[in-house]
Amino acid sequence: MPLILALESSCDDSAVALVGSDRQILAQAVVGQNDAHRPFGGVVPEIAARAHVEILPGLVRQVLHEADIAIGEVDAIAATAGPGLIGGVMVGLLVGKGLALSVGKPLIAVNHLEGHALSPRLVDKGLDFPYLLLLASGGHCQLLEVRGVGDYRRLATTIDDAAGEAFDKSAKLLGLAYPGGPAVEALASDGDPTLVPLPRPLVGTKEPHFSFAGLKAAVQRAVASNQYRPEDIAASFQQAVVDCFVDRTRRAMDKSDAPSLVVAGGVAANASVRSALEQLALDNGRRFSVPPGWLCTDNAAMIGWAGAERFAAGLIDDLAVPARARWPL
Ligand code: KG4
Ligand code: ZN
Repeated sequence: MPLILALESSCDDSAVALVGSDRQILAQAVVGQNDAHRPFGGVVPEIAARAHVEILPGLVRQVLHEADIAIGEVDAIAATAGPGLIGGVMVGLLVGKGLALSVGKPLIAVNHLEGHALSPRLVDKGLDFPYLLLLASGGHCQLLEVRGVGDYRRLATTIDDAAGEAFDKSAKLLGLAYPGGPAVEALASDGDPTLVPLPRPLVGTKEPHFSFAGLKAAVQRAVASNQYRPEDIAASFQQAVVDCFVDRTRRAMDKSDAPSLVVAGGVAANASVRSALEQLALDNGRRFSVPPGWLCTDNAAMIGWAGAERFAAGLIDDLAVPARARWPL
């Protein structure tokens, strides 16, 4: 059974995992850098890159030790090669190249978005291609038809902010600490989602694109008005995002008759998002799949799984493969 050692460093999580092509995660570790970035209210690219330099090698050693595997027993090294904050991507990719070179095993350069896109198949054995995917993270918000490994049809994207970015910016406006998504969700649990009138940008339009900049601006006005409790703003904001997701995904179903609906990416860790999309799938006779929360937010297991799928398809990369800040699927 092929064994993949995987590295993830595209944003502010340093992560390493050892994944088997039989869907087994032999060991994994994620070290977040929230404390380092919190004083700045968001991720500082250079701080992130420097932290990956310090953290990643120790995680490689830790994961191999936990799984009781020698580096020579690994069949391939997978590393995120983009998209993301370029300094961090370069650090992780270069650690991956060094390992591949030293043990004489192939390198697999993984697109971080492909990691998210294929992650549901790591835990859901019955999830076959094709499936309709809502990929909502800090940097992206897309609807994709996932047809196979390396075979994606993009149905829609955001015309301005990503959904996670909207959560993070709204959190900041509400005075919540970074990272914003989980903080907004926690605050929203004590709020009334019907109380603050907020827009649902692009809802009802024909093409299933997203837009969240106007929603963030409306949150800003609601906060500034001093008319509403923060709990109610958080709950109303979250409901607005959920309504956009449901409407846009329903629209995408007109463009794809894939039998399954899947949601992935950091925002898919949100319980309201998960249950609304599950209901949408049910109402439309589609199978539903969502990874557990820890597999939605950034981790290396998803990079290892994408690596395993690529390895099985014979897709390995040259050691000269570049790190990319931008890399559309
Ligand atoms: O996939 P991810 O970990 O990193 C990127 O690839 O961007 O996604 C991070 C994003 C952040 O914007 C974060 O605020 C959001 O996902 N997020 C959430 C939740 N957990 C993380 N948004 C809403 N509710 C959550 N529970
Ligand atoms: Zn991500």
